[in-house]
Amino acid sequence: MIKIAASLHSGPKINLEKVLQQLAEAKVDFLHIDVMDSNFVNEIEFGKSIVKEISQHSKIPLDIHMMVESPERILKDYALPTTQTIGIHIEATNHIHRILTMIKNLNKKAEVIINPGTAIETIKPVLNLVDQVMIMSVDPGFGGSTFINSSIERVKQLNDLRQKYNYHYQIEVDGSVDNNNLKELIDAGVDIAVSGSFIFKGNIIEQVKKLKSL
Ligand code: DX5
Ligand code: ZN
Repeated sequence: MIKIAASLHSGPKINLEKVLQQLAEAKVDFLHIDVMDSNFVNEIEFGKSIVKEISQHSKIPLDIHMMVESPERILKDYALPTTQTIGIHIEATNHIHRILTMIKNLNKKAEVIINPGTAIETIKPVLNLVDQVMIMSVDPGFGGSTFINSSIERVKQLNDLRQKYNYHYQIEVDGSVDNNNLKELIDAGVDIAVSGSFIFKGNIIEQVKKLKSL
């Protein structure tokens, strides 16, 4: 069954504790945390103190999405007890092997993330190392914008490479996922779908149910 990672960036923040409870009731599989540095992307969000509190208040595993330049500077701050995965962008570093190894040494799953405009070729050298690959289906920092359709083909490519070389990574997709495009993404090979705007635009439990039923 498809796993759902709820993107807190797209949800309301004032009553975060209530939102976390509703997401637990909805049985989402992960809390997707967008870490933004106003450099790799325009916005600033989810500093280490709020993420630490989230980790203390919710048992839902964290899926950390580092949208920051040189993530090695700060990634250990996000390796919390409930953190399952830390993802870094191929576009954000020249030291990809080193950083993926740092994440593994923190006993977290290591994920490589790729922007819609970056060729799949660029991540091929690390596909044998990673636990997870995330395809961005919008430009990073632009959640809620138009879903980029070529992402489906890119998921398929990663699924083919996984089968061909017997790799074991999970495939995740992030950006404007909804009940219209998720079925095709699942057919293409997606294991984990990040969803923000779709989950938070209605009743959280009902919206998650719609995604999980696909
Ligand atoms: C995009 C973010 C996403 C975003 C997803 O920069 O990485 O995680 O919040 O949310 P929606 O589903 O609203 O595009
Ligand atoms: Zn994200």
